[in-house]
Amino acid sequence: MPDLSVSYLGLKLGNPVIASSCGLTATPEGVKRAFDAGAGAVVLKSLFEEQLRAELKPIGEIQFSHPEAEAFLAGMGMNEGADEYLKLISAARKDGRGRVIASVNCVDGNFWMDFAKRMESAGAEAIELNLGYLPVDPSENGSEIEERLETLVRSVASAVKLPLAVKLGTAYTNIGNLIQRLGKAGVKAAVLFNRFYRMDVDLDAMSLSAGPTRGSPEAYFESLRWISLLDGRTGVELCASGGVYNGMTALKLIAAGASAVQVCSAVYAKGYGALTSIAKEMASWMDSRNVESIADLQGRLARRNSARPELYGRLHYVKALTGQS
Ligand SMILES: Cc1cc2nc3c(=O)[nH]c(=O)nc-3n(C[C@H](O)[C@H](O)[C@H](O)COP(=O)(O)O)c2cc1C
Repeated sequence: MPDLSVSYLGLKLGNPVIASSCGLTATPEGVKRAFDAGAGAVVLKSLFEEQLRAELKPIGEIQFSHPEAEAFLAGMGMNEGADEYLKLISAARKDGRGRVIASVNCVDGNFWMDFAKRMESAGAEAIELNLGYLPVDPSENGSEIEERLETLVRSVASAVKLPLAVKLGTAYTNIGNLIQRLGKAGVKAAVLFNRFYRMDVDLDAMSLSAGPTRGSPEAYFESLRWISLLDGRTGVELCASGGVYNGMTALKLIAAGASAVQVCSAVYAKGYGALTSIAKEMASWMDSRNVESIADLQGRLARRNSARPELYGRLHYVKALTGQS
C-alpha cells in the first residue's frame, strides 16, 4: 500500500485530500462525514468578517461587503455567528479524528487578531485566511491592495502561533510575487485558487442573477499552471483548489508541486464518498506505477525540476512552432 501521508501547514495528514471550506463543512455532522470518508483534513466553512462585526454591532448598522454574509445573518436572525463558529471548531476537534483548519473571510486584519486567538483556544490547528477581495473600484491601485493583504497577514500572524494559509483568487498581476511577500509576512501556505460567486444576467428580467455555484472539472488547469510555475520558488507551500473530481487530477496537481488538494464541488456532486474514491484512485495508480509515497511524486513536474523551464511560460509558442495549434 503506497504511503499517502503528507505534511501540510506543519501538520501531518494521513492523505492529501482535504475537504474544502463550504456549506458541507459548516456543521459538526458535515465535518464528521468528511472524516468518515477519509479526508486528510477539513477546512471549516469561512466565518465572514460581517459575522464578526455583527457580534459588536446591531445587524442593521453593518456594512456588508459580501451578499452571502448578509443572507446568512438575515437567515440566522441573530448576532451570534462568531460564537457559533468557535463551537463548531471545538465540536470538529472533539473526537480527534482529523486535522481541523478554521477559515475566515477577512478584509481588515486588525479585526481578526483577537478572534484568531479565540479560534486557537477553541482548538483550530491552522487558519486559512480567505482573502476574497474583489477590486470593484478601478481607481484603486493594485499595489495598495497587495500592501493591505500583507498588513492583514502580519497582524494575524502576530496574534497566533498557529500556521496560516492564504486562499487567493486569480486577479493579481504577479501572483508569485504576492505569495512570496505574504510568506515573509507570516503565511506558510497558499491555496490556489478561490472561486468568487459567479454572476450572470437575466435578460428577461433585465437584472443580475446568480451564476452556477459549482465548479467544473476543467477548473484544475488554472491551479496546475500556477502551482507548477511556483512550487519551491516562493518559500510557501502550495495547496490546489478547483476542479479536483478524481484521483488522477489530484495526482497531476501533486506532480506539479501541490502539497495537498482541496475538494468541494465534487463532494456536492457525488457526496462525501468522493473524498474516499479520490484517495483510493490515487493509491491504486501509485501502486500500479510503484510510486511508494506522495513525497516521491510531489513536484516532479514542477518548473523548478525541469530541464526545460522555458516551456512552462511558452507552451503556446512551442505548440505554434511545431504546428500543434
Ligand atoms: C456552495 C459553496 C460555498 C463555498 N463557501 C466557501 C467559503 O465559505 N470559504 C471559502 O474559502 N471557499 C468557499 N467556497 C469555495 C470552495 O472552497 C472552493 O475553493 C471552490 O469551490 C473551488 O473548488 P471546487 O472546484 O472543488 O469546487 C465555496 C464553494 C461553494 C460551491
